[in-house]
Amino acid sequence: MTVSKGLFVAATALSGVSAFQLPQIHLGASSGNDLTGLPVIDTKALQELISADNLESHAKKFYDIAKLGEDEYNHPTRVIGSKGHEGTLSYVEAELAKLGDFYSVSKQPFPAVSGNVFESRLVIGNEVPSDASPMGLTPATANKQPVFGDLIVVENDGCDESDYPPNVSGNIALIKRGTCPFGTKSANAGKSGALAAIVYNTDKDEVHGTLGAPSPNHVATFGLSGERGKALVQRLVDGEIIDAIAYIDAVVETISTTNIIAQTRDGDPDNCVMLGGHSDSVAEGPGINDDGSGSISVLEVATQLTKFSVNNCVRFAWWAGEEEGLLGSDHYVEVLPKEENKKIRLFMDYDMMASPNFAYQIYNATNDESPVGSEELRNLYIDWYEEQGLNYTFIPFDGRSDYDGFIRGGIPAGGIATGAEGIKTKEEVDQFGGKAGEWYDPCYHQLCDDLSNVNYTAWVVNTKLIAHSVATYALSFDGFPERTDEVSVSSYDEKVKYHGGKLIL
Ligand SMILES: *[C@@H]1O[C@H](CO)[C@@H](O)[C@H](O)[C@H]1NC(C)=O
Ligand SMILES: *[C@@H]1O[C@H](CO)[C@@H](O)[C@H](O)[C@H]1NC(C)=O
Ligand SMILES: *[C@@H]1O[C@H](CO)[C@@H](O)[C@H](O)[C@H]1NC(C)=O
Ligand SMILES: *[C@@H]1O[C@H](CO)[C@@H](O)[C@H](O)[C@H]1NC(C)=O
Ligand SMILES: [Zn+2]
Repeated sequence: MTVSKGLFVAATALSGVSAFQLPQIHLGASSGNDLTGLPVIDTKALQELISADNLESHAKKFYDIAKLGEDEYNHPTRVIGSKGHEGTLSYVEAELAKLGDFYSVSKQPFPAVSGNVFESRLVIGNEVPSDASPMGLTPATANKQPVFGDLIVVENDGCDESDYPPNVSGNIALIKRGTCPFGTKSANAGKSGALAAIVYNTDKDEVHGTLGAPSPNHVATFGLSGERGKALVQRLVDGEIIDAIAYIDAVVETISTTNIIAQTRDGDPDNCVMLGGHSDSVAEGPGINDDGSGSISVLEVATQLTKFSVNNCVRFAWWAGEEEGLLGSDHYVEVLPKEENKKIRLFMDYDMMASPNFAYQIYNATNDESPVGSEELRNLYIDWYEEQGLNYTFIPFDGRSDYDGFIRGGIPAGGIATGAEGIKTKEEVDQFGGKAGEWYDPCYHQLCDDLSNVNYTAWVVNTKLIAHSVATYALSFDGFPERTDEVSVSSYDEKVKYHGGKLIL
């Protein structure tokens, strides 16, 4: 088999030019996989190279790097734009550089929208509801000062400008959740002259959402529990006048951040297995489980893979801006030319591999709803856990991590996880141990997502499974569906209410 090797060239910051749009420099053809004298990839051999010690030593580095964020954030963080994130990228690059020329490594800079709420307060009548919270990427109230107005009930779901009565102008819009994204409601409220908007939930709980891509029409927007929202609407409909004060001090800014991509020089470049984790954390903490764990697993598998030759190309990614709404992976797929898209046979997402109160979770990706091949990948994970005598659960494939852009781009995808803010059931305690009634990751998106917030048993198990997934497809795509032209993601699209960790709708 004769293959030509492509070398990606790094694009410059904020140029909007992707690595794929630049001419590829061809290093000339070389043959097959035995030139290097390395043994052909073998799943058992690769899995045996995975050790808790290596994962732990990377984790300690990640934590030290997160401390670089302290100057600006007063606590460790690896959020995009921070020194903690810059340091993470440098560390991944330096580790890859140690691997000689096994990989061609490229950086893919892209503009990322990042929001920060410094202070917020909502007062309704005389009450400060504890079940209100500012939406992600909300703008500040005018002049970063409190605004005063009456609560005005918006008709229907607030998805149409005509749902907004004229007296919304100069007041505060109260809008029901549903039908269209929060961002659309906020923009409609803004166009109607509202000073601020409140979106209340359809069930009784709180709602933590994001406005998504900024719009000049967005106004300061809070989410509110359905219980309180519905009670307010009833009082207003009954003719009561309820005034409110809304205050948000926040910035929404665009910064440059970067994905890192490493692709084997060996292996058929027209048939790639791709995998990734996200290099960034939230602002609130160092993100050692989310997603230090996945980034490190992927890095460790990339490191150990250099002891083998591969038949198919393997492409590793460390995405940036996942926590702001899957920005890095979305950008990557969006700018991928059609012929490059076709070379990716599948994408495997590894986000949160080591939750302290873990379950072995497999995304329930099926060929009915996702590109054909997604189900074969799901079954690879099932078979492996079964072989190990381990239990697993299925979790919804609903847009919460970096696989989303790939599915929308027609590329089969899937992955595994160990759980975030979900609550472990009694049955899951029988299956996995741990504590019932508590979050899988009690430190999810918090400052305490530190070195003590990972379970090494789960982490090693899942890193071995990542190694298995890489080894399997690096060896052969026999039996794995060819890429097809028909792409229908409408049923996937209908069920997706997330884009990243936050609700969009
Ligand atoms: C705003 O206008 C709507 C419809 O015109 C009306 O039902 C409602 O009572 C008004 N609200 C206030 C606080 O004036
Ligand atoms: C997995 O997804 C399919 C839809 O594609 C659904 O029919 C099935 O019930 C799901 N399984 C579980 C265990 O959630
Ligand atoms: C798998 O789950 C069952 C309960 O459903 C439990 O009896 C068994 O011990 C679990 N296996 C392992 C390896 O934890
Ligand atoms: C990690 O999980 C395993 C299996 O449930 C458990 O035995 C171990 O105590 C956990 N480790 C820590 C540090 O919690
Ligand atoms: Zn994550």
